[in-house]
Amino acid sequence: MAKLITILNGPNLNLLGKRQPEIYGHETLDDVAAACAEVGRGLGLNTELLQTNHEGALVEMVHKARETSAGIVINPGAFTHTSVALLDALNTFEGPVIEVHISNVHQRESFRHHSYVSLRANGIIVGCGTEGYALAVRRMGTLLA
Ligand code: DQA
Repeated sequence: MAKLITILNGPNLNLLGKRQPEIYGHETLDDVAAACAEVGRGLGLNTELLQTNHEGALVEMVHKARETSAGIVINPGAFTHTSVALLDALNTFEGPVIEVHISNVHQRESFRHHSYVSLRANGIIVGCGTEGYALAVRRMGTLLA
């Protein structure tokens, strides 16, 4: 059976395509899901994309991925910069974790320069727009080969 890659998204990313398009672009999360599924198909990987605005729900999605998924791609949104709970959850996951940020967080406010999630991530893709998600799935193909 094909391995599953879970693509997790934190707060406000449900508004992708409508929210600050000058920063995050015009593609929606559905567009991202379709692009990831296509790249995954080429690599023999299944993908599922989930989003929540709630920190505890994101932690529980990581717990579920422990049972179902070979790898996690995660854009934690603002929880990147605040959530020790999310870091702790990711530390319970055994497979590879790739952190994605659509914008170049290092060109932005200094509070966006620190990521708790980066302490766990096997790789980080920053500032490549929504294309970063598909790049992360491609990297999963290498890590899980
Ligand atoms: C983001 C960057 C975060 O600082 C911000 O809070 C987001 C999106 C990005 O994808 O660029 O919600 O993770």
